Amino acid sequence: MKTEILPVNETSLRLAGEIVRSGGLVAFGTETVYGLGADARNSAAVLDVFRAKGRPADNPLIVHLARVSDMPTVCVISDDISERLRTVLPAPLTVILPKKPVVPYEVTAGLDTVAVRVPSSEGARRFIDACGVPIAAPSANTSTRPSPTTARHVYDDLNGKIPLILDMGPCAVGVESTVVDLSNGLPARVLRLGGMTVERLEEIFGEVVVPTIAPTDKPLSPGMKYRHYAPSVPVRLFDCCDYDGARSYLLEAKRRGERTVVLALDEVLAAFPEACRSSLGIDSESAARLLFDRLRALEKDYDSILTFRLPETGMGRAVNNRLTKASSGT
Ligand code: TXA
Ligand code: MG
Repeated sequence: MKTEILPVNETSLRLAGEIVRSGGLVAFGTETVYGLGADARNSAAVLDVFRAKGRPADNPLIVHLARVSDMPTVCVISDDISERLRTVLPAPLTVILPKKPVVPYEVTAGLDTVAVRVPSSEGARRFIDACGVPIAAPSANTSTRPSPTTARHVYDDLNGKIPLILDMGPCAVGVESTVVDLSNGLPARVLRLGGMTVERLEEIFGEVVVPTIAPTDKPLSPGMKYRHYAPSVPVRLFDCCDYDGARSYLLEAKRRGERTVVLALDEVLAAFPEACRSSLGIDSESAARLLFDRLRALEKDYDSILTFRLPETGMGRAVNNRLTKASSGT
Protein backbone atom coordinates (compact mmCIF):
# COMPACT_ATOMS: atom_id res chain seq x y z
CA MET A 1 0.00 0.00 0.00
CA LYS A 2 1.28 3.47 -0.90
CA THR A 3 1.33 5.88 2.06
CA GLU A 4 0.53 9.49 1.18
CA ILE A 5 1.44 12.51 3.34
CA LEU A 6 -0.93 15.44 2.73
CA PRO A 7 -1.24 18.89 4.30
CA VAL A 8 -4.55 19.63 6.04
CA ASN A 9 -7.07 21.28 3.73
CA GLU A 10 -10.65 20.66 2.64
CA THR A 11 -9.62 18.10 0.00
CA SER A 12 -7.37 16.03 2.29
CA LEU A 13 -9.91 16.18 5.13
CA ARG A 14 -12.68 14.96 2.79
CA LEU A 15 -10.42 12.09 1.67
CA ALA A 16 -9.53 11.27 5.31
CA GLY A 17 -13.22 11.18 6.23
CA GLU A 18 -14.00 8.80 3.35
CA ILE A 19 -11.14 6.46 4.31
CA VAL A 20 -12.15 6.33 7.99
CA ARG A 21 -15.89 5.87 7.32
CA SER A 22 -15.10 2.97 4.97
CA GLY A 23 -13.05 1.22 7.69
CA GLY A 24 -9.53 2.46 6.82
CA LEU A 25 -6.81 4.07 8.97
CA VAL A 26 -5.55 7.67 8.87
CA ALA A 27 -2.69 9.16 10.94
CA PHE A 28 -3.24 12.71 12.18
CA GLY A 29 -1.47 15.28 14.35
CA THR A 30 -2.63 16.34 17.81
CA GLU A 31 -1.07 18.78 20.29
CA THR A 32 0.59 15.84 22.08
CA VAL A 33 1.77 13.25 19.52
CA TYR A 34 0.48 11.90 16.19
CA GLY A 35 -2.39 9.40 16.42
CA LEU A 36 -3.40 6.47 14.21
CA GLY A 37 -7.15 6.89 13.79
CA ALA A 38 -9.98 4.48 12.97
CA ASP A 39 -13.78 4.57 13.34
CA ALA A 40 -14.18 3.69 17.03
CA ARG A 41 -17.50 1.93 16.35
CA ASN A 42 -15.98 -0.41 13.74
CA SER A 43 -14.37 -3.48 15.38
CA ALA A 44 -12.60 -4.62 12.20
CA ALA A 45 -11.02 -1.19 11.65
CA VAL A 46 -9.95 -1.09 15.31
CA LEU A 47 -8.29 -4.51 15.00
CA ASP A 48 -6.36 -3.16 11.98
CA VAL A 49 -4.94 -0.41 14.21
CA PHE A 50 -3.51 -3.06 16.56
CA ARG A 51 -2.10 -4.94 13.56
CA ALA A 52 -0.46 -1.88 11.94
CA LYS A 53 1.29 -0.93 15.21
CA GLY A 54 2.14 -4.44 16.35
CA ARG A 55 0.29 -3.53 19.56
CA PRO A 56 -0.63 -6.18 22.16
CA ALA A 57 -4.43 -6.81 22.04
CA ASP A 58 -4.86 -6.19 25.80
CA ASN A 59 -3.76 -2.54 25.59
CA PRO A 60 -6.89 -0.39 25.04
CA LEU A 61 -7.19 2.65 22.74
CA ILE A 62 -8.30 6.23 23.44
CA VAL A 63 -11.54 7.47 21.82
CA HIS A 64 -11.09 11.01 20.42
CA LEU A 65 -14.00 13.46 20.13
CA ALA A 66 -14.24 16.96 18.64
CA ARG A 67 -16.09 18.48 21.61
CA VAL A 68 -16.91 17.90 25.27
CA SER A 69 -20.65 17.88 24.52
CA ASP A 70 -20.14 14.64 22.52
CA MET A 71 -18.77 12.76 25.58
CA PRO A 72 -22.13 11.30 26.69
CA THR A 73 -22.37 9.48 23.33
CA VAL A 74 -19.49 7.15 24.31
CA CYS A 75 -19.29 7.19 28.13
CA VAL A 76 -21.33 7.58 31.30
CA ILE A 77 -20.50 10.95 32.85
CA SER A 78 -21.91 12.71 35.93
CA ASP A 79 -22.92 16.38 35.90
CA ASP A 80 -20.15 17.19 38.39
CA ILE A 81 -17.37 15.62 36.28
CA SER A 82 -18.85 17.09 33.11
CA GLU A 83 -18.79 20.62 34.58
CA ARG A 84 -15.20 20.24 35.77
CA LEU A 85 -14.09 18.94 32.36
CA ARG A 86 -15.82 21.82 30.58
CA THR A 87 -13.49 24.23 32.35
CA VAL A 88 -10.38 22.51 31.00
CA LEU A 89 -11.10 20.62 27.75
CA PRO A 90 -10.03 20.62 24.98
CA ALA A 91 -6.59 19.82 26.41
CA PRO A 92 -3.86 17.15 26.60
CA LEU A 93 -5.93 15.15 29.10
CA THR A 94 -7.55 11.70 28.72
CA VAL A 95 -10.22 10.56 31.18
CA ILE A 96 -11.30 7.00 31.96
CA LEU A 97 -15.08 6.60 32.46
CA PRO A 98 -17.63 3.74 32.23
CA LYS A 99 -18.22 2.95 28.56
CA LYS A 100 -21.48 3.00 26.59
CA PRO A 101 -22.40 -0.02 24.41
CA VAL A 102 -21.59 1.86 21.16
CA VAL A 103 -17.88 1.40 22.01
CA PRO A 104 -16.88 -2.16 21.09
CA TYR A 105 -14.72 -4.23 23.43
CA GLU A 106 -11.99 -4.27 20.75
CA VAL A 107 -11.37 -0.59 21.61
CA THR A 108 -11.29 -1.09 25.39
CA ALA A 109 -9.48 -4.45 25.30
CA GLY A 110 -12.40 -6.06 27.12
CA LEU A 111 -12.72 -3.41 29.85
CA ASP A 112 -16.06 -1.82 30.83
CA THR A 113 -14.36 1.57 30.93
CA VAL A 114 -13.28 3.75 28.01
CA ALA A 115 -10.53 6.37 27.64
CA VAL A 116 -11.90 9.61 26.17
CA ARG A 117 -9.99 12.63 24.91
CA VAL A 118 -10.91 15.97 23.30
CA PRO A 119 -7.65 17.25 21.76
CA SER A 120 -6.91 20.99 21.74
CA SER A 121 -5.21 20.82 18.32
CA GLU A 122 -7.54 22.48 15.82
CA GLY A 123 -6.32 20.23 13.01
CA ALA A 124 -7.17 17.13 15.06
CA ARG A 125 -10.68 18.39 15.78
CA ARG A 126 -11.23 19.28 12.10
CA PHE A 127 -10.16 15.72 11.21
CA ILE A 128 -12.60 14.18 13.74
CA ASP A 129 -15.39 16.42 12.42
CA ALA A 130 -14.58 15.46 8.83
CA CYS A 131 -14.94 11.78 9.80
CA GLY A 132 -18.20 12.43 11.66
CA VAL A 133 -17.55 9.43 13.96
CA PRO A 134 -15.67 8.96 17.26
CA ILE A 135 -12.02 8.20 16.46
CA ALA A 136 -10.15 5.40 18.25
CA ALA A 137 -6.46 6.26 18.12
CA PRO A 138 -3.26 5.18 19.84
CA SER A 139 0.00 7.01 19.17
CA ALA A 140 0.97 6.42 15.51
CA ASN A 141 4.29 4.67 16.20
CA THR A 142 5.29 1.04 15.91
CA SER A 143 4.76 -0.47 19.40
CA THR A 144 7.73 0.14 21.80
CA ARG A 145 9.21 2.95 19.62
CA PRO A 146 9.29 6.59 20.74
CA SER A 147 5.94 8.26 19.93
CA PRO A 148 5.82 10.29 16.70
CA THR A 149 5.79 14.10 16.90
CA THR A 150 6.06 14.80 13.16
CA ALA A 151 4.44 13.32 10.04
CA ARG A 152 7.91 12.06 9.04
CA HIS A 153 8.19 9.99 12.26
CA VAL A 154 4.86 8.33 11.42
CA TYR A 155 6.06 7.64 7.88
CA ASP A 156 9.31 6.09 9.19
CA ASP A 157 7.31 3.59 11.28
CA LEU A 158 4.16 2.93 9.22
CA ASN A 159 5.10 3.49 5.56
CA GLY A 160 3.28 0.90 3.44
CA LYS A 161 0.86 -0.04 6.24
CA ILE A 162 -1.61 2.89 6.08
CA PRO A 163 -2.99 4.94 3.15
CA LEU A 164 -2.80 8.48 4.56
CA ILE A 165 -0.90 10.71 7.01
CA LEU A 166 -2.33 14.21 7.58
CA ASP A 167 0.67 16.48 8.13
CA MET A 168 -0.16 18.92 10.91
CA GLY A 169 3.43 20.03 11.57
CA PRO A 170 5.42 19.30 14.74
CA CYS A 171 3.34 18.63 17.88
CA ALA A 172 3.25 21.56 20.34
CA VAL A 173 3.38 19.52 23.58
CA GLY A 174 5.44 16.53 22.44
CA VAL A 175 4.54 13.93 25.12
CA GLU A 176 1.26 12.01 25.27
CA SER A 177 -1.82 13.16 27.18
CA THR A 178 -2.11 12.68 30.93
CA VAL A 179 -4.44 9.72 31.60
CA VAL A 180 -6.72 10.12 34.64
CA ASP A 181 -9.11 7.48 36.01
CA LEU A 182 -12.51 8.94 36.98
CA SER A 183 -14.46 5.70 36.56
CA ASN A 184 -14.99 5.46 40.36
CA GLY A 185 -15.59 9.21 40.73
CA LEU A 186 -13.23 11.46 42.70
CA PRO A 187 -10.47 11.55 43.76
CA ALA A 188 -8.94 11.51 40.28
CA ARG A 189 -6.23 8.89 39.87
CA VAL A 190 -3.38 9.51 37.47
CA LEU A 191 -2.61 6.41 35.38
CA ARG A 192 -0.09 8.07 33.05
CA LEU A 193 1.78 11.35 33.53
CA GLY A 194 1.67 13.51 30.41
CA GLY A 195 0.91 16.83 28.75
CA MET A 196 -1.30 18.16 31.54
CA THR A 197 0.64 18.81 34.74
CA VAL A 198 -0.37 17.41 38.15
CA GLU A 199 -0.54 21.01 39.41
CA ARG A 200 -3.23 21.80 36.78
CA LEU A 201 -5.14 18.57 37.60
CA GLU A 202 -5.26 19.62 41.27
CA GLU A 203 -6.88 22.92 40.24
CA ILE A 204 -9.62 21.04 38.38
CA PHE A 205 -10.22 17.99 40.58
CA GLY A 206 -8.92 18.96 44.02
CA GLU A 207 -7.14 15.96 45.55
CA VAL A 208 -5.31 13.92 42.90
CA VAL A 209 -3.75 10.49 43.49
CA VAL A 210 -0.38 10.17 41.79
CA PRO A 211 0.84 6.65 42.36
CA THR A 212 4.46 5.74 42.58
CA ILE A 213 4.79 2.19 41.37
CA ALA A 214 7.57 -0.26 41.93
CA PRO A 215 8.53 -2.21 38.81
CA THR A 216 7.09 -5.40 40.30
CA ASP A 217 3.64 -3.94 41.11
CA LYS A 218 0.56 -4.79 39.07
CA PRO A 219 0.28 -2.15 36.31
CA LEU A 220 -2.45 0.48 36.83
CA SER A 221 -3.28 0.83 33.19
CA PRO A 222 -2.85 -2.05 30.73
CA GLY A 223 -0.43 0.05 28.66
CA MET A 224 1.97 0.60 31.56
CA LYS A 225 3.34 -2.91 31.58
CA TYR A 226 4.87 -2.78 28.11
CA ARG A 227 8.27 -1.61 26.97
CA HIS A 228 7.94 1.97 25.76
CA TYR A 229 9.64 4.93 24.12
CA ALA A 230 12.84 3.05 23.51
CA PRO A 231 15.25 4.13 20.80
CA SER A 232 17.38 1.35 19.28
CA VAL A 233 20.48 2.34 21.31
CA PRO A 234 20.82 2.32 25.14
CA VAL A 235 19.83 5.44 27.11
CA ARG A 236 21.81 6.15 30.33
CA LEU A 237 19.88 8.34 32.77
CA PHE A 238 21.66 10.36 35.50
CA ASP A 239 20.25 12.44 38.37
CA CYS A 240 19.92 16.20 37.77
CA CYS A 241 23.22 17.10 39.38
CA ASP A 242 25.30 13.96 38.86
CA TYR A 243 27.80 15.55 36.46
CA ASP A 244 30.65 13.52 37.98
CA GLY A 245 28.84 10.23 37.32
CA ALA A 246 28.13 11.35 33.77
CA ARG A 247 31.76 12.36 33.18
CA SER A 248 33.08 8.97 34.31
CA TYR A 249 30.55 7.23 32.10
CA LEU A 250 31.68 9.34 29.12
CA LEU A 251 35.33 8.47 29.82
CA GLU A 252 34.63 4.74 30.04
CA ALA A 253 32.50 4.85 26.91
CA LYS A 254 35.30 6.61 25.04
CA ARG A 255 37.77 3.93 26.19
CA ARG A 256 35.42 1.25 24.84
CA GLY A 257 35.31 3.13 21.51
CA GLU A 258 31.59 3.94 21.95
CA ARG A 259 30.10 7.07 20.36
CA THR A 260 28.04 8.69 23.14
CA VAL A 261 25.95 11.87 22.93
CA VAL A 262 24.82 14.05 25.84
CA LEU A 263 21.12 14.95 25.49
CA ALA A 264 20.15 17.68 27.96
CA LEU A 265 18.92 21.21 28.64
CA ASP A 266 21.23 23.97 27.37
CA GLU A 267 22.43 24.92 30.85
CA VAL A 268 23.53 21.32 31.49
CA LEU A 269 25.19 21.00 28.08
CA ALA A 270 27.36 24.01 28.99
CA ALA A 271 29.07 21.76 31.58
CA PHE A 272 30.10 19.27 28.85
CA PRO A 273 31.93 21.43 26.28
CA GLU A 274 34.07 18.54 24.99
CA ALA A 275 31.27 16.03 24.43
CA CYS A 276 28.97 15.44 21.43
CA ARG A 277 25.83 17.30 22.48
CA SER A 278 22.16 17.51 21.60
CA SER A 279 19.82 20.15 23.02
CA LEU A 280 16.49 19.72 24.81
CA GLY A 281 16.13 23.52 24.85
CA ILE A 282 15.77 25.75 27.85
CA ASP A 283 13.13 24.19 30.14
CA SER A 284 10.87 21.20 30.80
CA GLU A 285 8.35 22.36 28.14
CA SER A 286 10.96 22.48 25.40
CA ALA A 287 12.36 19.15 26.66
CA ALA A 288 8.90 17.55 26.29
CA ARG A 289 8.48 19.01 22.81
CA LEU A 290 11.90 17.85 21.57
CA LEU A 291 12.45 14.55 23.43
CA PHE A 292 10.97 11.96 21.04
CA ASP A 293 12.39 13.70 17.95
CA ARG A 294 15.86 13.72 19.48
CA LEU A 295 15.67 10.04 20.55
CA ARG A 296 14.68 9.08 17.00
CA ALA A 297 17.45 11.20 15.42
CA LEU A 298 20.30 10.28 17.78
CA GLU A 299 19.86 6.51 17.50
CA LYS A 300 21.02 6.83 13.88
CA ASP A 301 24.40 8.42 14.72
CA TYR A 302 25.40 7.22 18.20
CA ASP A 303 25.96 4.01 20.17
CA SER A 304 24.46 5.39 23.39
CA ILE A 305 22.59 8.43 24.72
CA LEU A 306 23.47 9.99 28.09
CA THR A 307 20.82 12.17 29.69
CA PHE A 308 19.69 13.74 32.98
CA ARG A 309 16.52 13.84 35.08
CA LEU A 310 14.71 17.19 35.24
CA PRO A 311 13.36 18.67 38.50
CA GLU A 312 10.12 16.79 39.44
CA THR A 313 7.69 19.68 38.86
CA GLY A 314 5.40 20.76 36.01
CA MET A 315 6.24 19.00 32.73
CA GLY A 316 9.44 17.73 34.32
CA ARG A 317 7.50 14.81 35.83
CA ALA A 318 6.22 13.55 32.46
CA VAL A 319 9.62 13.98 30.82
CA ASN A 320 11.31 12.06 33.68
CA ASN A 321 8.71 9.30 33.32
CA ARG A 322 9.49 8.91 29.58
CA LEU A 323 13.26 9.10 30.19
CA THR A 324 13.01 6.41 32.88
CA LYS A 325 11.07 4.14 30.56
CA ALA A 326 13.41 4.82 27.62
CA SER A 327 16.41 4.00 29.80
CA SER A 328 15.09 1.00 31.72
CA GLY A 329 13.64 -0.97 28.84
CA THR A 330 10.29 -1.30 30.62
O1 TXA B 1 -1.76 12.03 23.68
C1 TXA B 1 -2.27 10.91 23.56
O2 TXA B 1 -2.91 10.38 24.47
C2 TXA B 1 -2.08 10.21 22.22
C3 TXA B 1 -2.81 11.01 21.13
C4 TXA B 1 -2.80 10.31 19.80
O3 TXA B 1 -4.11 11.28 21.55
N1 TXA B 1 -2.55 8.85 22.30
C5 TXA B 1 -1.90 7.89 23.00
O4 TXA B 1 -2.49 6.66 22.92
O5 TXA B 1 -0.90 8.10 23.64
P1 TXA B 1 -1.80 5.29 23.41
O6 TXA B 1 -2.69 4.23 22.89
O7 TXA B 1 -0.40 5.27 22.94
O8 TXA B 1 -1.92 5.34 24.97
C6 TXA B 1 -3.18 5.16 25.60
C7 TXA B 1 -2.98 4.85 27.06
C8 TXA B 1 -2.40 3.46 27.27
O9 TXA B 1 -1.48 3.51 28.35
C9 TXA B 1 -3.64 2.63 27.63
O10 TXA B 1 -3.33 1.49 28.38
C10 TXA B 1 -4.46 3.64 28.41
O11 TXA B 1 -4.27 4.86 27.71
N2 TXA B 1 -5.89 3.28 28.40
C11 TXA B 1 -6.74 3.28 27.35
N3 TXA B 1 -7.97 2.87 27.73
C12 TXA B 1 -7.90 2.60 29.05
C13 TXA B 1 -8.83 2.12 30.04
N4 TXA B 1 -10.09 1.84 29.71
N5 TXA B 1 -8.41 1.96 31.32
C14 TXA B 1 -7.12 2.26 31.65
N6 TXA B 1 -6.19 2.71 30.77
C15 TXA B 1 -6.56 2.87 29.49
MG1 MG C 1 1.55 4.91 22.67
